[in-house]
Amino acid sequence: MSESEIPSLISLCIEAIKNELLRGDDLLPIIHELPSDLFDILVLRLPPLALQKLQTSMPFDDRDDHEFAGECLGNGRKRGRSWNFNKAWRNLFKSRWPELGNRIEPPDWQQTYWETHLQNCLDEVAEIASLPSFNGCLGEIKISDSLLELIGSEGDMATLTCGYSKLYHHCQHFGYFARCLRLQNVLCDAEISHLLRNSKLQSLELRWIRSKEHIAGLCKLLNQNSESLTSLEFIHCMLSSASITAICCSLPTESLQTHGIKNFSINTTNFVATNSVPLELVSFLSSRRSLYSLKLSDNHLGQNFAKVVFSTLLNASSSLSILDLSENNISGWLSQLYGRSQSNPSTPLGVGKSLQSLRVLNLRGNNLNKDDADDLRCALVHMPNLEVLDMSDNPIEDDGIRSLIPYFVEASEKCTPFADLMLEKCELSCHGVTQLIKTLSSLSRPLKSLSVADNNLGSQVAAALGELLCTSIQVLNIGGVGFGSSGFRALQEELTKELKLVEINISENRGGIETAKFLSKLMSKAPELVTVNASYNLMPIESLTILCSAIKAAKGTLGLLDLSGNIWDYKPIYASMLADIQCNGRLHLILPSPTPDAPYDADP
Ligand SMILES: *[C@@H]1O[C@H](CO)[C@@H](O)[C@H](O)[C@H]1NC(C)=O
Ligand SMILES: *[C@@H]1O[C@H](CO)[C@@H](O)[C@H](O)[C@H]1NC(C)=O
Ligand SMILES: *[C@@H]1O[C@H](CO)[C@@H](O)[C@H](O)[C@H]1NC(C)=O
Ligand SMILES: *[C@@H]1O[C@H](CO)[C@@H](O)[C@H](O)[C@H]1NC(C)=O
Ligand SMILES: *[C@@H]1O[C@H](CO)[C@@H](O)[C@H](O)[C@H]1NC(C)=O
Ligand SMILES: *[C@@H]1O[C@H](CO)[C@@H](O)[C@H](O)[C@H]1NC(C)=O
Repeated sequence: MSESEIPSLISLCIEAIKNELLRGDDLLPIIHELPSDLFDILVLRLPPLALQKLQTSMPFDDRDDHEFAGECLGNGRKRGRSWNFNKAWRNLFKSRWPELGNRIEPPDWQQTYWETHLQNCLDEVAEIASLPSFNGCLGEIKISDSLLELIGSEGDMATLTCGYSKLYHHCQHFGYFARCLRLQNVLCDAEISHLLRNSKLQSLELRWIRSKEHIAGLCKLLNQNSESLTSLEFIHCMLSSASITAICCSLPTESLQTHGIKNFSINTTNFVATNSVPLELVSFLSSRRSLYSLKLSDNHLGQNFAKVVFSTLLNASSSLSILDLSENNISGWLSQLYGRSQSNPSTPLGVGKSLQSLRVLNLRGNNLNKDDADDLRCALVHMPNLEVLDMSDNPIEDDGIRSLIPYFVEASEKCTPFADLMLEKCELSCHGVTQLIKTLSSLSRPLKSLSVADNNLGSQVAAALGELLCTSIQVLNIGGVGFGSSGFRALQEELTKELKLVEINISENRGGIETAKFLSKLMSKAPELVTVNASYNLMPIESLTILCSAIKAAKGTLGLLDLSGNIWDYKPIYASMLADIQCNGRLHLILPSPTPDAPYDADP
C-alpha cells in the first residue's frame, strides 16, 4: 500500500459516521456541535441519503438558507453551514449528471437532486411497467441496485436502507421535492396521484397518452396539482374530444375558478374524431389572464381548428405572448375572418380587438399559400406588439410576400417592435425577395433578423442584399439560395460602410473561392461579427490562407466559423496557420473532415 492509499483518520471517521447516520439518530446531536471546519468536511463527503438525513435533522434555520439568508447576521457559522449544504448537493448532482449539471444553475440543488433522482426512478419503473407481462402496482416495483448505489445504499448499507427498495418509498421520501416531471402513459394510472401525493407539481410533460385509463389517472393528478401547475405539455399522444374535455375540466383551481396554466403545448399528437373544437377547450383558451404560451404543433390540425383557436384568443383579447401553430395543415384558416369575400375594410394596426401581448407567431410548415398571406396581413393588424414572425416552409410565393409588404411598412411607421422575419423555403424568387429587401432597407426601423434561406434566388439578389446589410440588420440567413460565385463577388462590392452584422449563414451556395474573398471583406467591415456558417460552398483549401489572414487582421469578436462540407486535402503548412488563428482560444472553427487518403496531422 503506498502512502497516499493509507486512509487518514478523518476519512476513517467519516466512513464510520456515514454508516452510523443511516443506522440511527444517536450521533446527530454530536455532529450538530462539531466545529465548523470538521462539519464542512463531513457535509462535503456524505453520500445523498446520509446528507439528506443530516440536513433534515438540523435546527430549522440551518436548513433553510433562502428565507433566513438575510437574517442572523451574528451567526456566521450557521449561515456558512446552509451554504455548504447547497454546495454539497451541487457536487453530488454534478458527479451524477455531469452534462445536465453544467447546463443548469438552480437556486436549490437539494430539490433539483431529488427531483431528478425521482425522474430516474419513474423512467426505470415505466420501462418495467411497459412490459406486456407486467401486472401489478407501480409502487411495488423494485428500484435497481445501480440507482440505489448512487444515493449511497450499497454493500452493508443496503440492509439499513431497505426502506428504499421500491418506487413507493422514493415517492414517499422525495416526492416533496418534485416540481417538474415527465410521465409516460404507463405511469398515468389510478395509482399515480397517490404516489405523488406529496408533490406540488408546477410543470408536467406527458408522453404517449392514448387510452381512457391514462386520461382518468392523469386527470386525477392534474386536479390534485391544479393550484401549482403552470406548464403542461403533451407529446406523441392521441386525444379524443372527450379526453380534451376531461383534461380541461380537471385544471380549474378553487381559488381562481379558472386554470393557472401559463404554458400549454400539444405536440405531435393525433386529435381523434375532433371535427369541432371541444367547448371546454374554447373556454380554457378564453381565460384572459393566465396563458403565456400556446403551442399546438404538428397535430394534423385543419383550418377549422386553427380558425376557432385564433378567433377565440382574439375574441377574449388574450394576453398570450407566444402562439405556435406550426407543422399543421391550416391553409384557409383566416379566410372566413378576413377573406376577400368578407369585404373586410382594412382596419389600421392596433385598432379594435387585439392580441396586445403577442410577440411570437410561428406558422412554419402549414401549407399556406398566397391567399393565406393576404389574409394574414389583415390579421396582423390585431397584433401591434409582434416581434417575430415565422412563415417558413409555406408555398406563399412572390405574390404572398408582396401581400405582406404593406404590413412591414406600417409596422415600421408605427414603431412597433417587429424585428425578426423568417421566410425559409417559401418558393420565393429573386423578384419577390428583391422587392421585399428593397422595402426593408428603406424602413426607418430596419429588421434585426431576416432569413430567406432555401429559396431559389440566384446571384441577382446580391445588389439588394448589399443594401440590406448596410442597414442595422444583425442576423442574416441566405443559406441555400443558389448565390454562386458571381453572387458573392457582387455582394462583396456592395459592402461599402461599417456593418452591424453579428451572425450570417451563407452555407450551401456553391461560392467557391469567392466565398472566402467575400468573408474576408465582410470581416473587415463587420466588427461585431460573431457567427459565420460558410459550410458546403465548394471552397478550395486555398481559401484557408485568405480566411486566416482576414481573421488575424480583423482581431474581432468572431466566435464560430463553420467551414464543414468543403473538400479539403490538408497540407502541413495549414496546421500552423490554423493553430495561429485559434491561439487565443476564442474562435471555434469547424473544419471539413480530412479526406481518408490525405490524413491531417492535428498536432502542429
Ligand atoms: C413557459 O415558456 C417560456 C418560454 O417558452 C419559458 O421561458 C418559461 O419558463 C415557461 N414557464 C413555465 C412555467 O414553464
Ligand atoms: C415538439 O416535439 C419535438 C420533439 O418531439 C421537438 O423537437 C419540437 O421542438 C417540439 N415542438 C414544439 C412546438 O414544442
Ligand atoms: C366572443 O365573446 C363573446 C363574449 O365575450 C361571446 O358572446 C361571443 O359568442 C364570442 N364570439 C366568438 C366568435 O367566439
Ligand atoms: C390539407 O388540408 C386540405 C383541406 O384543407 C386537404 O385537402 C389536404 O388533403 C390536406 N393535406 C394533408 C397532407 O393532410
Ligand atoms: C444555415 O442554413 C442552412 C441552409 O438553409 C441550414 O440547413 C442551417 O441549419 C443553417 N444554420 C444555422 C446555424 O442557421
Ligand atoms: C451550418 O449549416 C449546415 C447546413 O448547411 C448545418 O448542417 C450546420 O449545422 C450549420 N452549422 C452550425 C454551427 O449550426
